[in-house]
Order: sequence, then structure tokens, then C-alpha cells
Amino acid sequence: MAIKMGRPGVDGLGDVVRVLGEWQYDGGPVQLHPGDVGWFWRFGAEPTAEATRTWSRAGEVLAVGLLDGAELLRLAFAPPALRDEELARQVAEDVSAPERGVLIEGKVYVEAPMGALIQDVLFKDGWESGEPWTPLRRDLGAPVPDPGVRVEVIGPEQAHEWAAVLRASFDGSTFTDERWHAMAAGAPYVDARCLVVRNEQGEAVAAVTVWSAGEGKPGLIEPMGVHRAHRGHGYGRAITVAAARALQELGSSSVDVCTPSSNVGAVATYQSAGLEQLPERRDLYRNAS
Ligand SMILES: CC(C)(COP(=O)(O)OP(=O)(O)OC[C@H]1O[C@@H](n2cnc3c(N)ncnc32)[C@H](O)[C@@H]1OP(=O)(O)O)[C@@H](O)C(=O)NCCC(=O)NCCS
Repeated sequence: MAIKMGRPGVDGLGDVVRVLGEWQYDGGPVQLHPGDVGWFWRFGAEPTAEATRTWSRAGEVLAVGLLDGAELLRLAFAPPALRDEELARQVAEDVSAPERGVLIEGKVYVEAPMGALIQDVLFKDGWESGEPWTPLRRDLGAPVPDPGVRVEVIGPEQAHEWAAVLRASFDGSTFTDERWHAMAAGAPYVDARCLVVRNEQGEAVAAVTVWSAGEGKPGLIEPMGVHRAHRGHGYGRAITVAAARALQELGSSSVDVCTPSSNVGAVATYQSAGLEQLPERRDLYRNAS
């Protein structure tokens, strides 16, 4: 049976999020998570559908891709299909041919889970290994200590505060209140929480979103940041510990996060909150033709 690439459309996004959740499991490869789709949803349902691709055999979805910008495709595979040759070849063909409308011409990137056959196929086709990323994980089987700070779950009324901390955390961030509301209206947000940490003056100084993939499955941190005026006081560690506790309450088996290895402050902060570094992962890229 042939592999077919498809677009789920807005109505199909719920199913995409569901299969992505089913494909997360302890000990499995870190790969595109329902929370990554949830975070993308800040741009709205239509753009999220536009950015999503599926690959199916006989109607069964075996791989999902999210176009995180025009140059980066992030992939997840059904665990039994990680080394499926026909699937890997078809995905490689679709991402390598600009006329298929997946990745455009020029320098483009593919993020694929470790151990997926698509990596071998793209390497053979001349793709190269890019910037290293560091996944980190903390098991949530044991109790997580109290973060020792004031933590609040954010609802629509405080969305502006969460948005302001995020803007003050990431250089060049364009995040707005509207984006928060779009994200919170998305299918994956049902299993998500936005938190802030407040300092002793009551100011929101750190922000995080956590995404559960369901009971007993790894949960995701995306994004996390500390207001640039309030760094170096332990708030990064505190909001990460708070994120771990929130995911534990949501039934997650672990808290996962992935950050560029060059972001040494983030890696140090996650480690300081008890997350352990997993082997580095690299995107694959193809040079401008
Ligand atoms: C990374 C970031 C969250 C750190 O926040 P912070 O409140 O300053 O961190 P903390 O004070 O809690 O520090 C936690 C640990 O990380 C270390 N650390 C923090 N920033 C560091 C840096 N730039 N370089 C090296 N170590 C750093 C601290 O020394 C501390 O270590 P310790 O527990 O061993 O003492 C903050 O710089 C930030 O928001 N950066 C931009 C957004 C970002 O990169 N987010 C994460 C990626 S999604």
C-alpha cells in the first residue's frame, strides 16, 4: 500500500494531536509533542492546519510534520513505523522536492527523532548534520519538592501578565495577549497549564506553559522564560520545578524539554531543577541549491 502525504485541515487537527499523544512514551525518542502543536496554535487554527502534514498508509497516520516556519519541518513517527523503509523514503522524497509544497528551496532543516530511518535516508541523499539540541527529562514517579515561591495558574484574566513576562524573556518576541487567547482556544490546550512565578512584590517574573500528553505519558515544557530584569535569583529553577509539579498533577510520567545546546543558561537551569540531560540531537539541513 502506498504512502500518501495529506493535510489534515482544521477539522483534522484534533486527530493529529491525539496520535501525537499516543506516540509519546517513556524511554521512547523525544519527538514532536502535542504541546509543540499547541504552542504553534498561538498563530490560530488555520495557520496551524496550514503548517501540518500527515503521511498515511491505508488511512492510518504513520508520521506527522509541523512546519515551524518556512525552513524547518519537525517530524514525529508512530513508534512501529520509525524504521519503515517505504515511509522514510516517501517522507524524504516529499521534503526534498520543493514543488511538493513542504519545504521551500534554499537552506532548509528537518528535525527527526533519534533512530528514525528518515535520518539515514536524508544523510545518504546529502543532507548534513546541523546545530546540536539538548533534550532534558525528569522522571515524575517520585515527589517533586515545593518550588518555594508564589506560583499562579494563569487564566484569561491574567493572560496579559503572562504575555508580558514572555516578551521580556525572549529577545525579539512578538507574543501578544491575542496570541495567548488563540493558543488557549486550541485543541491541545485542554491538557495544558500556563503558570507564572511572582516575587515578593507580587510582580510576575517568570512564565511557563506545560503540556500533558495524557496520563502516564511524558509532558512538555514549551516555552519557559524569566523576565530579563529578574534573572539570577533562582526564578528559572523555581518555575521549572513548578512546571514539573503541574505536570505531575496532570498525570504525566516525566517532564521533557528541548533547548539548543548553545543556550547554556537554559541547560543549567533545567539541570538545577532536577532534569537530566539526554543525548544531544541534531537537525538535518540541506544547503541552498
Ligand atoms: C535561562 C533562564 C530561564 C535562566 O533564568 P534565571 O532565573 O536567571 O535562572 P536561575 O537564577 O534560576 O538559575 C538556575 C541555575 O542556572 C544557572 N544559570 C542561569 N543562567 C545561566 C547562564 N546564562 N549561564 C550559566 N549558568 C546559568 C544558575 O547559575 C543556576 O545554577 P545553580 O542552580 O547551579 O546555582 C533565563 O536566562 C531566560 O529566561 N532566558 C531566555 C529564555 C530562555 O532561554 N528560556 C529557556 C529555553 S526554552
